[in-house]
Amino acid sequence: MTNLFSRGKKEHTLFKDERVLYPEFVPEQLLHRERQLEEFAFAFKPLTQGGRPENVFVFGPTGTGKTVSMRLVLRDLEGFSDRVKSKYLNCFEFNSRQSVLTELAAFLGVPVPRRGVGVAEAYAQFLEGLKRASFVPVVVLDEFDQLFFREGNALLYDLLRTSEQTKKFVGVVLISNDAHLPLRFEDRVRSSFSRLSVAFDAYTPMQLKDILRERSEKAFVGHGVGEEVIPLIAGHAARKGGDCRIAIEALLKAGRIAERANASSIQVPHARQAFAAMESPLKKSMERLSDSERVVLQCILDWKGESISSGQLYELLQTAKGLGERRTREVLAKLESLKLVTLTWKELEGRGRTRVIALALPRNVVMKELA
Ligand SMILES: Nc1ncnc2c1ncn2[C@@H]1O[C@H](COP(=O)(O)OP(=O)(O)OP(=O)(O)O)[C@@H](O)[C@H]1O
Ligand SMILES: [Mg+2]
Repeated sequence: MTNLFSRGKKEHTLFKDERVLYPEFVPEQLLHRERQLEEFAFAFKPLTQGGRPENVFVFGPTGTGKTVSMRLVLRDLEGFSDRVKSKYLNCFEFNSRQSVLTELAAFLGVPVPRRGVGVAEAYAQFLEGLKRASFVPVVVLDEFDQLFFREGNALLYDLLRTSEQTKKFVGVVLISNDAHLPLRFEDRVRSSFSRLSVAFDAYTPMQLKDILRERSEKAFVGHGVGEEVIPLIAGHAARKGGDCRIAIEALLKAGRIAERANASSIQVPHARQAFAAMESPLKKSMERLSDSERVVLQCILDWKGESISSGQLYELLQTAKGLGERRTREVLAKLESLKLVTLTWKELEGRGRTRVIALALPRNVVMKELA
């Protein structure tokens, strides 16, 4: 039998470098984000002169370049001045006050065990690190909504009052999809969070076209992309909220579909197939699951019955994956909040009750997305 991967040898290679279309790729320059980059530079400028930073609140719909812009600015900032160092945290991963403070303490050179220390101690260690630091830290809390509704006010208060104890400041950047988040700040936070708000708007079809053209020159060989394809993808992504992530992903998928069909260039039907393949609101949350969240979800998926009791699940995960009951419970709460599983109580005849866990969506749908 021939090797699976050597079958169907291609006559046409369309990709020159498909990695430039991967979500983690950071482009050299950002088109149509000049104003936002200027504003960031303005907010951070005092830091390079040893001054007090302006805190920044960044908001806008998904896929509008908030994360990538912030990463570019921080790269330039650190390249320009060694008085500043930034720490980027995604609150999907660091979703508690304790985990953020612990990570920041470690960043400032005071390693704290990630589990097992309380918030007060994590904060004390963070202040200790801050006192000793030879630079001003800029803390970026991306996807801040993920943390805010639980402990956001307390965490912000922690970060904003450091100067009382240490005479040192921390620059705080919050990134959110919700423009109105600051309205929910407590008074004590609002009064000390002097901030510059920077809005990111949905991209227009024209802007998306420019971005896609630039990327496709790097990704594909000459004449690899049919003329109508980029306008089509730009229009599609514009209708989906002006989301550049969708645009780039569609281009990557269309390229793969065209290559598979052994076409000499990407054409409209390939792009349409790519759109169809991408239709899933589940995608974003699934892609961002942590390793343990994936493990728990996979275990529920693999379970043959309709639902599994919490006791059975804890035991399975403990023995097969070494995941403790407490962690499993946290993960289940997260999966429930993402509407991936449902948790209900079931009465056991005469023996109290137990939690029962079931998938909130058809198994094959979840399976496809998790793959
Ligand atoms: N102006 C631009 N030029 C080139 N690429 C861009 C531009 N804006 C966004 N991108 C690309 O689009 C994708 C999405 O951008 P990014 O991750 O920054 O969005 P976001 O606003 O942070 O979205 P979310 O709210 O979902 O986190 C990334 O791959 C990024 O590289
Ligand atoms: Mg982002």
